[in-house]
Amino acid sequence: MLRKKLVTAQKRGETRALCLGLAMVVCSGMMYFFIGVTIVPSYSKSVWTKEAVCRLIKASIKEKVHCSFNEGSGDENNFYYPCLEVYVNLTVLGQMVMLYNTEETVARNPKCFYIPPNMGSYNEVQKHVDTTMDYIKKKQTFTCYYDPSRTEASVISERLYDPRGLVITSLWPTLMLLGGLFIVILVKTSQCLSALAASQYKISI
Ligand SMILES: *[C@@H]1O[C@H](CO)[C@@H](O)[C@H](O)[C@H]1NC(C)=O
Repeated sequence: MLRKKLVTAQKRGETRALCLGLAMVVCSGMMYFFIGVTIVPSYSKSVWTKEAVCRLIKASIKEKVHCSFNEGSGDENNFYYPCLEVYVNLTVLGQMVMLYNTEETVARNPKCFYIPPNMGSYNEVQKHVDTTMDYIKKKQTFTCYYDPSRTEASVISERLYDPRGLVITSLWPTLMLLGGLFIVILVKTSQCLSALAASQYKISI
């Protein structure tokens, strides 16, 4: 009687573990799909793949030209800011090119080095842009990324879509997949072993 109860409890536990393992596998599959659909295209679109050294030629705030976002129509996407323009010497090629902060900046506003955070008041934003310009002028030489095929002439100072980021993003679904598979294999192995033990027990009787 007790033995039967124990066996049922064990069976129920195994089924639950198996469900958990399979759910983890399915969930990781969905995460991979999501990453593949939403994140991978940005990475594969990014052409600024080669690292180089850039030397500052000119950093200035365009006189009285204040740009706004091109994208979106909400108020928060439509504030005005001083447009910082930065030209650098891409030293490997000896070319004067425009420097942008990230891939996103090129897509959102190709006129300015970066889009400052919207701080509410124009003065605050202006302070932010001034500080950034001072920093660039002090630094003079920086690491930058360019398009080795030269289809895209500009360079960027920071890669949002560094392939290393993709590896880190895939870490969670990979861990979940491995964990799920581990549970499934563990349950299946223990079922096989107990089946084997049961048949040997019968034979020995
Ligand atoms: C960029 O720098 C290289 C060497 O450092 C120099 O020969 C070249 O003339 C510079 N190009 C521009 C556009 O300033």
